[in-house]
Amino acid sequence: MKFFIDTADLAAIAEIKALGMCDGVTTNPSLMAQAGRRDTDALLREICDLVQGPVSGEVVATDAEGMIQEGVRLAKLSEHIVVKIPTTYAGLRAIAALSGRGIPVNATLVFSASQALLVAKAGAAYCSPFVGRLDDVSHDGIALVEQIVTIYDNYDLETEVIVASVRHPNHVVESALLGAHIATIPPKVIKQLVQHPLTDKGLASFLADWDRLQGK
Ligand code: G3P
Repeated sequence: MKFFIDTADLAAIAEIKALGMCDGVTTNPSLMAQAGRRDTDALLREICDLVQGPVSGEVVATDAEGMIQEGVRLAKLSEHIVVKIPTTYAGLRAIAALSGRGIPVNATLVFSASQALLVAKAGAAYCSPFVGRLDDVSHDGIALVEQIVTIYDNYDLETEVIVASVRHPNHVVESALLGAHIATIPPKVIKQLVQHPLTDKGLASFLADWDRLQGK
């Protein structure tokens, strides 16, 4: 399973990359706002240079022509850019047009299996179901991932599933069990994935025994 980092924070990306856990990065306008950099093109280039893998940058236009123009411009920033397009009716046309020009697209804000089927048919390289936001409204985000993985398998669709809106380690584990290709994970959840109280307890007791042996 590939891990993308769901942030536009360069320092956080560098930290996770040093663990060997960064296969790519996803950003969105909210994450850009959190990073506090208004020179978003420059920031995306810096992330691409650091990551040397797929980096999603999202369009803010909402009409098809605007999304296509913005996507073409973003794609020129780096060979690593993946253009993030919202899954709307206009978005489908932008996905088809950009994908047809060889520009990889990440279809974002996917909340249903029907949306996932359509973005794959339109040629999206990636489909991003938002599991946490579905859970927030009492739907089952992971059940949607299961549906999408099944549909893509049934028809050998090449679109890769990026499990997005990941809120806790179980989202990652359950996605891996279902065979989702990628999880895009906030840095905080990457850190949570390694934590286990028995590891901490075991380490503390090993160190205490070692100190006793040394007569401390
Ligand atoms: O990249 C988009 C996505 O992961 C958003 O997550 O936590 O804002 O629902 P969240």
